[in-house]
Amino acid sequence: MKEDSLPAWFLGPHAENAELLERLVTEALRDHVFWRRNYHPEDGFTIRETAKHKEGYEQAVATLTQELMGLLAELKRGVPFFSGRYKGHMSFEQTIASQIGYFAAMLYNPNNVAVEASPVTTRLELDVAAQLARMIGYDPQRSWGHLTSGGTVANFEALWIARNIIYLPVAASGAAEALGVSLDVARPDGSRAPLGELSLWELLNIPNDGVLDLWDALWCSAPRADVKRALQEHSLSDLGYQDYARRLARAFGDPLPASVVLVAATAHYSWEKIVRALGIGANQLVFIPVDDHFRMDTGALWERVRSLATRRQPVLACVSVCGSTEESAVDHLDEVLEVRARAERELGVTFHVHSDACYGGYAAAVTWRADGTRRPAGEIRTSVGDAWPSDAWVRAMEALARADSVSIDPHKLGYVPYPAGAFLLRDRRGRDLVAVDPPYLLPTQTLDSAPELFLGRFIFEGSKPGAAAAAVWLSHKVLPLDERGYGYLVERTVVGARRLYAALAEADLAPFRIVLLPEPDINIVCYVVHHPALTTLEATNALNERIYEQMSLSQPGATPPYIITRTRLRSPVYDGAMGSVLDALGICTMEQWKCSDDGLVVLRSTVMDPFAAEPPPAPDHVTGFVAALRGACDVVARRDDLLTN
Ligand SMILES: Cc1ncc(COP(=O)(O)O)c(C=O)c1O
Repeated sequence: MKEDSLPAWFLGPHAENAELLERLVTEALRDHVFWRRNYHPEDGFTIRETAKHKEGYEQAVATLTQELMGLLAELKRGVPFFSGRYKGHMSFEQTIASQIGYFAAMLYNPNNVAVEASPVTTRLELDVAAQLARMIGYDPQRSWGHLTSGGTVANFEALWIARNIIYLPVAASGAAEALGVSLDVARPDGSRAPLGELSLWELLNIPNDGVLDLWDALWCSAPRADVKRALQEHSLSDLGYQDYARRLARAFGDPLPASVVLVAATAHYSWEKIVRALGIGANQLVFIPVDDHFRMDTGALWERVRSLATRRQPVLACVSVCGSTEESAVDHLDEVLEVRARAERELGVTFHVHSDACYGGYAAAVTWRADGTRRPAGEIRTSVGDAWPSDAWVRAMEALARADSVSIDPHKLGYVPYPAGAFLLRDRRGRDLVAVDPPYLLPTQTLDSAPELFLGRFIFEGSKPGAAAAAVWLSHKVLPLDERGYGYLVERTVVGARRLYAALAEADLAPFRIVLLPEPDINIVCYVVHHPALTTLEATNALNERIYEQMSLSQPGATPPYIITRTRLRSPVYDGAMGSVLDALGICTMEQWKCSDDGLVVLRSTVMDPFAAEPPPAPDHVTGFVAALRGACDVVARRDDLLTN
């Protein structure tokens, strides 16, 4: 059944479903036209038929038509994401459902900043968020989420809220004193203590749930206006870092210790932007090294948490990755959460755990049956017909339910048009810590009873496309977030990636050699090409750069038969994954790698094409790819001085 549905999900590499899409586009357009015609028909016509025969009108239509033709011609120089030949960045074409959902809603141009500008699509957005929340195992009644322009903003919101949560007890302590109320709070070991008796270090280590309970208790302790005023005098988001630190020095004899954000070494570069933008500072971003499969080394995480605790440096958040940008590695989030639980027990230290599942989040759909129960790892392996996924992978996916927040991008493995990221928060109360009410969008009765319909008050962005919500919503209707829909889609890409991995492992490119990095956790295959004439990292990097140039759109006007990307892995954070790769390359020792500033250039093939593992007559883009790689090596060998000097 799902096998039969797959061909209906996309327009197709040769627009095989063009008639279907055209029919649906026409339907959506005509329906919108009827809507307009029936909206106050008594108004009559503004643009009259006679106006259409005027010279200026005809000129405007001619310009529009001509310029559109020009634009259409230009657009064909775009990237062929729809083709199995595209194995570059994490992009593929979009589902027909999302394209038509976007198109249909775009004609209405709803703005999901507030329900009064988007009576339909704000609700669709909240539906979509609840569906994603359910997919990761959150309780939709307790959690909250919404769409963003992408992963960067979703990640930003996670750290924005995490920062406000971690600092709230300090503000609450000052506010409670000013209000003359006494409150107590839960500590990492589960005990409760009066807020006023805690040291600055203890205040900065209150567990997430404890902080949010404290927030509720504070608002109940005095009239709202008084609490608001008291918080304004003490909270970081009102005072800003400088004033806040000055006050802390006065109150506790201790300026605000620099808090750090722990991130997996594979973390996307958005995290650096975010810590800079939030005033946390790029120096406070601490990279936790990877293990031999590019997953966060949780042993190293524990050691780092311990040494930070010794220095009394608070941890704002720990960011674990589910589907790393370069390798699609899935951190063992269950172990990350175990490190936090141990830190709470043994060190009195806690922090917000965020999962950056911008890429891999949709893979959680693999773990669900249609009836809403979980699929054990063995059952998934049987249906995939392969050794994937491991039990540990499934445990990591199931652990998403326990992360404090998660970001997932529908515009990546959700196959919907840009812009569509999503931010999910396990405990919806956290959104109140960043809420702002604008005077021109005052809450109404509806909003008072359903405040979530006024998204703008809780999110970083303002105006935002309701069309994106319609796109995701319709796509989720056609492809459910379980084994029948997105789960199947992701599975097919994994099978395709594993076929490519096996084909590269067996390929004979003599005298060139392919050194594969570990098997991917999802669908990004990484490898390095080597030639016996090359004996240094620098030369091997240069070879791989040249192959990349042959197989990418990096050169203007290039039309490579297959398209890949490349990245550069560096010491020390990638040391854990380099042992077997360096052994296989045989060009340098671990010590030499550690001393090299160059790092290792790695070629990347992202397999988001769900047809990659289809049997004939589907085109075989695995064999084709290996042949293209061989061709690129031959071109480099013929043209290049690198291998002869
Ligand atoms: C793991 C991860 N997080 C965050 C992002 C940022 O997403 P966006 O480009 O949608 O802002 C990316 C983008 O590739 C990513 O791979």
